Amino acid sequence: MSDPHAIRLAVVGNPVAHSRSPQIHARFAAAAGHAVDYMRIESPLEQFVATVRAFADSGARGCNVTVPFKGEAFAACARLSERARRAEAVNTIAFEADGWFGDNTDGAGLVRDIELNAGVALRDKRVLLLGAGGAAAGALDPLLAARPAALVVANRTPAKAQAMIERFAAGAARLDVSLSATSLEAPGSGFDVLINATAASMQAAVPPLPAGTLKPGALALDMMYGAATLPFMRWARAQGAIARDGLGMLVEQASEAYFVWLGVRPDTFQVLTELRREVDAHVATAAAGAGTAT
Ligand code: ATR
Repeated sequence: MSDPHAIRLAVVGNPVAHSRSPQIHARFAAAAGHAVDYMRIESPLEQFVATVRAFADSGARGCNVTVPFKGEAFAACARLSERARRAEAVNTIAFEADGWFGDNTDGAGLVRDIELNAGVALRDKRVLLLGAGGAAAGALDPLLAARPAALVVANRTPAKAQAMIERFAAGAARLDVSLSATSLEAPGSGFDVLINATAASMQAAVPPLPAGTLKPGALALDMMYGAATLPFMRWARAQGAIARDGLGMLVEQASEAYFVWLGVRPDTFQVLTELRREVDAHVATAAAGAGTAT
């Protein structure tokens, strides 16, 4: 029986059964000494807003939003953080007295994972971001804020990448970051960091990047985790890169969301170490499905 006074939170998605967020937030709450009840809510596809409203009306503090509802969540919030407004996607809602506040912690989680957990400073680096959907859009503002020398966005449909970067062009210019859009087949060469924000791993596909795209020793990160990322990880290692999945990003975005709701940013090291052990064990027995950090 759960604590009736616990702070109520949830992740809302469809499907949502495989989400590891309840486990992550339970560990954060235990470490912080908070009574938190974090549940999974599978929303019918046509009833996202009604589902979240019912949860909010029950006295909950907020929720995470995952696939495929981040765009609907963006449209439904009364107020938005700057990073959510530009991403046009919301993954964290706080139910406040004057309406829903929407934020997007995915990109901040990504950058924290790259810089703090993987130990790669993005400043002055050449960064290649693959994809032009919500996952890529959520990453753009925090990536620009880390001030790489160049940020190239490559997408299967290059026009979508071009349309997406136009929203971020003024910010890039202000920060003196070269921001451009291109195709997967001709992204340029010698990148220090590659971030795969496409859905390719969900189809066991690897984006068709030419040889020489990455510098030897580059960091190649897939936003997904679990067995689905294995083709990308194998490809990255064959390029001489350091391969990384999206598990660290998942834990970091959760920590950032916890901060939005509770004003405390939980330490992630222990949780990430434990989750890594579990996911690796699942992958080793080929029992894991696809997971996504966004
Ligand atoms: P999300 O919100 O998770 O980013 P999305 O908005 O559906 O999901 O975007 C999916 C992204 O993955 C898009 O950039 C898509 O490319 P297109 O814009 O050309 O559709 C990309 N994508 C999906 N499958 C892919 C594949 N097999 N290879 C390369 N890119 C792929």
